[in-house]
Amino acid sequence: MKDSVVVVGSINVDQVLQIDRHPSPGETIAAGDPAYLPGGKGANQAVAAARRGAAVSLVGAVGQDDAAVALSALGASGVNLDHVRQLPGSTGLAVIMVAASGENTVTVSPGANARVDAHLVDAARDAIGASKVCVLQGEIPMEATDRASSIAASHGARVVLNAAPSGDFSPMTLRAADPLVVNEHEAAAALDLLGGDAPAGDDDADIVATARAITAALLDRGVPSVLTTLGAAGVIGGESADGLWHEPARRVTPVDTTGAGDAFIGALAAELASGSGLRDAAKVANRVAAFSVQRHGTQGSYPDLTEELP
Ligand code: RIB
Repeated sequence: MKDSVVVVGSINVDQVLQIDRHPSPGETIAAGDPAYLPGGKGANQAVAAARRGAAVSLVGAVGQDDAAVALSALGASGVNLDHVRQLPGSTGLAVIMVAASGENTVTVSPGANARVDAHLVDAARDAIGASKVCVLQGEIPMEATDRASSIAASHGARVVLNAAPSGDFSPMTLRAADPLVVNEHEAAAALDLLGGDAPAGDDDADIVATARAITAALLDRGVPSVLTTLGAAGVIGGESADGLWHEPARRVTPVDTTGAGDAFIGALAAELASGSGLRDAAKVANRVAAFSVQRHGTQGSYPDLTEELP
């Protein structure tokens, strides 16, 4: 059977600390007991897509330490791990601090993710080429992301590029993205990489109007389709600058927003792979992200097809 979604990306262990509030620089504060959970944007997106019914393969790397935690939910969700290599060094580690307000900070030591290169991606060429949707992000070296986007594009697989965290994405990869999925800051960084200027600031413009302007600018710079995510304000999307739409987010009470963006991307990829149009796929992805913020953690907070979405 062909895998419908291939994710090329990062795999981490998330060390999660619950704190009352974030410390100031130089300050020491106490936290509760640490939790060690599976994470990494690539792995999170793979689990989210699999839990929404897609057949998913993951291309990436763990270290030579015990990676059981990092791979646990991937295995349980049925993600194909044939293209996950074990490389020298440690598995990626993210130290995540979640405050009582739900706000989080994330510090990532990439470990084996930093050694995912074009050769490792080439070894997965057949799986990438046979997929309907190839999902990419910015937590592995750009040479690997570029190679995956060029293999996918040359085989007619749809590239979903989540340009997070912001990095030195090549114009080729940005213009292969259909869609490019970014928050407002990542959108500005991507526009800069494409040689565009951020639309003139209007201090009174609301977040939605600002996002519309930057989304249109990215489309004008040759990106085939764009989704600009705005957290509680939903998502602005479109395939042409004069055809933008706004999908509001569902109203929920968040307890932990870590990995909500990855829930969105995974669900989006699963919907696109099953034939949905961009706006319909984004609507479902919005609801899956809203579901996930009501639970702690990343992969453990993602809904399967039996769970009711908000
Ligand atoms: O997007 C959330 C993820 O970012 C976490 O799981 C962490 O591992 C970091 O990669």
